[in-house]
Amino acid sequence: MVPSMAGVITLRINGEAYTLFVDHRTTLLDSLRERLDLTGTKKGCDQGQCGACTVLLDGRRTVACLQLAVAAEGHEITTIEGVADGERLHPVQQAFLDLDGFQCGYCTPGQICSAIGALAEHAAGWPSAVTDDVRPEAGPPSLTDDEIRERMSGNLCRCGAYVSIVEAVARAAEAGMPTKPVPSTRLSPGAGTKESVA
Ligand code: FES
Ligand code: FES
Repeated sequence: MVPSMAGVITLRINGEAYTLFVDHRTTLLDSLRERLDLTGTKKGCDQGQCGACTVLLDGRRTVACLQLAVAAEGHEITTIEGVADGERLHPVQQAFLDLDGFQCGYCTPGQICSAIGALAEHAAGWPSAVTDDVRPEAGPPSLTDDEIRERMSGNLCRCGAYVSIVEAVARAAEAGMPTKPVPSTRLSPGAGTKESVA
């Protein structure tokens, strides 16, 4: 018997459930952009090198171009469309705006999602490759510019807005990270079907 190469999956994205029929080889990135019209997540290299497609899976950074959509089932996916709290921008978004952390803006959704994940990792005490003292008892390293550069090194910016990006991430860290409630779900048909799971 030939195994099926396609099927129905349900993805939870920004607190809503989307049900869609996909070829099992479809990436999360293509599902977001081509099937669900969530085009805030950008495609740059499509091979895991640039970070433009960064989203959060259960709060952790993931490059959506290397993530199969079927493997994202059962996880809470957050894209750039879901990081603000209603009309209020996420502190990382606000800092990027205030400090001009972009030029053309193409890499910016990925930079912002990555920064949110990076700041959460730092707050949880995760060391980076430039952390001097990685002993658990040393506690979280101070968030120096080198720490920010290293933690954001997976996100490339062809406009070279790196100086402002580092400043924006530092500013957002000072502002503190919000604890964002998971939004409620609602019924709404679309290219994929968005349905209530409440
Ligand atoms: S498009 Fe995914 S890392 Fe470049
Ligand atoms: S702002 Fe243009 S690629 Fe980063």
